[in-house]
This record gives sequence, structure tokens and C-alpha cells, in this order.
Amino acid sequence: MSEIKTLFNVIGPISIAVTIPWIIFKMFCTVWLKKGYNNLVGKVVVITGASSGLGEALAHEFYKHGAQVVLCARRRQELERVRTDLLHSHSKDMTHPPIIIPLDLNEPSELQNHVDKILSITGRIDILVNNGGISHRGTVNDTTLEVHRQIMSVNYFGALALTKAVLVDMLKNKKGQIVFISSVQGLVALPERSAYSASKHALQAFSDSLRAEIASSNISVSVISPGYIKTKLSLNALTGSGKAHGQMDATTESGYSPEYAAEQIVKAVVQKKKEIVLSTLLPQVAILLRKYMPLLYYIVMERRAKKLEQQKQFQNVMGKNQ
Ligand SMILES: NC(=O)c1ccc[n+]([C@@H]2O[C@H](COP(=O)([O-])OP(=O)(O)OC[C@H]3O[C@@H](n4cnc5c(N)ncnc54)[C@H](OP(=O)(O)O)[C@@H]3O)[C@@H](O)[C@H]2O)c1
Ligand SMILES: *[C@@H]1O[C@H](CO)[C@@H](O)[C@H](O)[C@H]1NC(C)=O
Ligand SMILES: *[C@@H]1O[C@H](CO)[C@@H](O)[C@H](O)[C@H]1NC(C)=O
Repeated sequence: MSEIKTLFNVIGPISIAVTIPWIIFKMFCTVWLKKGYNNLVGKVVVITGASSGLGEALAHEFYKHGAQVVLCARRRQELERVRTDLLHSHSKDMTHPPIIIPLDLNEPSELQNHVDKILSITGRIDILVNNGGISHRGTVNDTTLEVHRQIMSVNYFGALALTKAVLVDMLKNKKGQIVFISSVQGLVALPERSAYSASKHALQAFSDSLRAEIASSNISVSVISPGYIKTKLSLNALTGSGKAHGQMDATTESGYSPEYAAEQIVKAVVQKKKEIVLSTLLPQVAILLRKYMPLLYYIVMERRAKKLEQQKQFQNVMGKNQ
């Protein structure tokens, strides 16, 4: 009995000594985060791929917190729809009217003009969110060089060119934040996604170089690596011949809601996190496997590739019998 009593006498003070600083720390974090969100009021946030999916949800999240969002993508009509939705779905007291800039990430030489236009309207860019992108479905052998090039051009060179165009002004102002929406596939590649995985891996490396270079200019770089999000990404993915995949994949369908993902991403941006992996457990395990148990990763991926191949053969047979 007396041993238990002494044990309590020891554990009691220790747990208090741990709990109280922890509560204070948590309270400090909450206050700090709230201050970060308040800082978003009036900030100019340029978002690519704002006409759909995650970019659209990010526009809502930044707008809700009082940022002046600049919506970029190819389809003007969809951008106008998003702008109308924004104006109608949030309270007006601290919001700023959204701006629309139609642009094509596949036309890198035009991007400087678009940035100049944004700057002539807003005077500065506080946060650039490189979110626009396309995915890929197909083996390396079945994918034309043109498709490989197009995916790299949009996902990698598009983000790179836009970042370079925005960077000049940020360096001059000695402040700014650059955000890259990469993917879990920027850290671990899957079969039949070579072009997409490669483009996201490239972004990852580019960001690491850039982050180090511009840290002394008070510009931060955040890389976000999400797992599956329920968007039109798989519908819009390019097949080997460059056609739209046109199917909602089960994995994409079962993913996070874009609203939840956007909320988590904006939180990470406010905290100036250098990188986050936004996913369930399985993709996180895959990243660890790739790094620390590559042999196992090779085996798992070979099996996955074989399964994909069998599924295609099965679908071909079914198609012919119909
Ligand atoms: N969904 C997922 O499971 C998932 C997972 C990890 C990472 N991500 C990443 O999240 C980002 C957003 O994708 P999403 O899931 O929201 O897919 P989405 O619904 O297909 O949206 C893609 C966006 O990119 C824009 N875009 C595509 N090509 C463009 C181009 N050449 N120039 C300018 N904009 C272009 C599209 O707009 P326009 O067609 O109007 O140009 C659209 O707004 C992508 O970078 C994607 O890789 C998605
Ligand atoms: C590889 O691609 C070529 C050219 O498109 C095609 O003729 C060949 O059948 C493909 N091979 C396999 C194994 O899919
Ligand atoms: C650094 O950038 C932040 C915004 O990202 C700004 O609030 C702060 O004033 C800047 N600091 C300096 C020293 O310029």
C-alpha cells in the first residue's frame, strides 16, 4: 500500500510539472495561430488552378479569412463561376473582391505579362499558391513523348516560370510566401503515373533549392504533399495518347474533401510550415518504405503494376464481348 502511495507522491508532481507547461504551450499556439489567420486580411493571394477542385476550395478558404484572392486558370467561365460563388457565400465585412486572371501554365513565356497585370492592379503579391496541374494514366511505353512533355510543362515548368515572375517583386519587398501543391507522388512514385510523379518530384527538389536561396530575403517556401482528394483530377488526367482519362477513380473518389484539404493547407501556410504530408497512414508508410526499405517498395510496386495490367486486359476482353 505504502509503495503505491509513494508512487502517487512521485507521479503527481511530475504529471503536474508536465501538464501545466503543455497547456500553456497549447494556449500560446492557439493565440499565435489566430494571429496568423488575422494576418491574412488584405493579403494578395494568387492561386493557380482556381477554377476547380482544390484550387477552388483554397480560394474559398483564403477569401473567408479576408485575403484578396487572384483566381488563375485557363477557363474564364469557370473562374467567373468561382468568383460569383465567393461573393455570395461569405459575409462581406472583411472580404476583398476577387480578381480573375485567365492564364495557361503551358505558355510559360506569357506568365510574366500576367504577373505584371496582377501587380498593376494589386501593387504586390503576398502569397503565391502553385496549385494548377494535371495527372497522367499510362505506362511509359504507351505514353507519347508529347504527353510526357505536356505534363512536365504544366506541373513543373509552369509553376517554375510563374514563381520566377513573382519572385522578382518579392525579393524587392523582402517578404512573401511561395506555396507548391506537390503530392505524395512527389515523394514516392507509382506505376502508370511516371509523368505525374516525375513532375512532382521535380517540384520537390526545385522547392528545396529555392527555399535555401531566398530564406535570407524573408521569403518562405511551403511544399504540400497531399494524398487523394476528391476532385476532377483523375477525370482530367491525360492518357498515353493525350486524351482525357475521363473516369473518376475509386481512390480519388474516396479521398479527402477539397474543403478539408484546403483548411489544413491554409493552416500550414499561416504557420509557414516548410513541408507537410497531408494524407492517411498508408501513403505515409509508402514514403517510409521507399526511403528505408526500398526492396519492399520495389516488390509492392511490381505487384501493383501487374494488377493494373491485368485489369486493363480484363477490361479489353469485356469490351470485345459486349
Ligand atoms: N486530387 C488529388 O487526389 C490530388 C492529390 C495530390 C495532389 N493534387 C494536386 O492538387 C492540384 C489541384 O488539382 P485538383 O485535384 O484540384 O484537380 P482538378 O479539379 O482537375 O483541378 C486542376 C486545376 O488545374 C488547372 N489547370 C490544369 N491545366 C492548366 C494549365 N495548363 N494552365 C492553367 N491551369 C491549369 C485547371 O483549370 P483549367 O482547366 O480551367 O485550366 C484546374 O483548375 C494539382 O496540382 C494536383 O496535382 C491532387
Ligand atoms: C510498346 O509501344 C509500342 C509502340 O507504341 C507498341 O507497338 C508495343 O506493342 C508496346 N509494347 C508493349 C509491351 O506494350
Ligand atoms: C518578413 O515577412 C513577413 C511577412 O511574410 C512580414 O510581416 C515581416 O515584416 C517581414 N520582416 C522583415 C524584417 O522584413
